[in-house]
Amino acid sequence: MRAIVMTRAGEPEVLQAVEQPEPAPAAGHVLVDVAAAGVNFMDTGVRRGLAWAPQPNPKVLGVEGAGRVVAVGDGVSQFQPGDRVAWVYAPGSYAERIAIPQDSLVAVPDAIDDRTAAAVMMQGLTASHFATDFYPVQPGDVALVHAAAGGLGLLLTQIIKLRGGRVIGRVSSADKVAVAREAGADHVIVDADGYFADEAIRLSGGEGVHVVYDGSGPKTFSGSLEALRRSGTFCWYGPVLGGPGPLDIMSLPKSIKIGYAIFFDHIHTPEFLRARAGRLFEWIATGALKVRIGGTYPLADAEQAHRDMESRTTTGKLLLLP
Ligand SMILES: NC(=O)c1ccc[n+]([C@@H]2O[C@H](COP(=O)([O-])OP(=O)(O)OC[C@H]3O[C@@H](n4cnc5c(N)ncnc54)[C@H](OP(=O)(O)O)[C@@H]3O)[C@@H](O)[C@H]2O)c1
Repeated sequence: MRAIVMTRAGEPEVLQAVEQPEPAPAAGHVLVDVAAAGVNFMDTGVRRGLAWAPQPNPKVLGVEGAGRVVAVGDGVSQFQPGDRVAWVYAPGSYAERIAIPQDSLVAVPDAIDDRTAAAVMMQGLTASHFATDFYPVQPGDVALVHAAAGGLGLLLTQIIKLRGGRVIGRVSSADKVAVAREAGADHVIVDADGYFADEAIRLSGGEGVHVVYDGSGPKTFSGSLEALRRSGTFCWYGPVLGGPGPLDIMSLPKSIKIGYAIFFDHIHTPEFLRARAGRLFEWIATGALKVRIGGTYPLADAEQAHRDMESRTTTGKLLLLP
């Protein structure tokens, strides 16, 4: 089978389509034929060798996807060949087939196609965690959402709107405004240099925002702090572009809440994972949540998918189709 292997960290050209031995499902594992693998910004960080990749090189990149069960290992009781499944945080997903622990899989309902299922496992679960657990948005709350036309940003915007919040989106270029608006953003600020705080404060009626969702690196950090209202919440989540450096609690605005949000710290059991994925699938099936697939690529074009994502020109979800 073909898979996208990196033998060393580096630029997108380190991603090579390579023939690999066919995986076999060990006990408790399920072998899946991958229909679509999600490309996440996190993957670009793993490719660069920044973090979160306990597997040594050479390794198959990617952690997310959807497909069909082809075989099961000993002791697997929850799935059988033919079942449609999706997953997240399963290393080695940029591949034609992957063996995954059964507890990491969720069943995909008939109403949800493979591409949509693959598209929402990382970004959808993260967005719903941010807006319903980390800071449960209340009707009338004003939220500032960075990279609002990206995969995570579009889903987060819609979930905030579902909960009755108002969204100020920030995007880096004017051609992303319409996409962010279509997802429900009430206002969209175009800024790529970190000068958005005054406008966000003005758009929130002079008070600042109740919550800021910022995964956009050091350039946006101080502006996001500035844009918060009294006792606001800072949901920080983006390690790929770098952190703010050490924080002196005495110099932060008083009474704010700030944290690095990661969904699997909260959604840490198979039951939680399936319940939260099920809620996303239901929103999609009823039309409450729209999933924008911004680009699809043959598996062998993973390098191009990474180049496009890092060019800041993509919107929505990028998928590899083995
Ligand atoms: N903590 C968690 O659990 C978690 C989970 C999922 C994702 N994330 C983080 O969420 C963010 C979005 O992830 P995603 O997968 O949905 O990707 P994405 O938003 O589809 O694409 C990345 C976004 O980052 C911005 N960007 C790209 N290159 C940049 C650069 N060099 N400098 C500054 N901004 C750049 C772009 O937005 P603009 O050009 O419009 O600014 C782009 O939309 C990432 O930081 C990712 O690491 C965190």
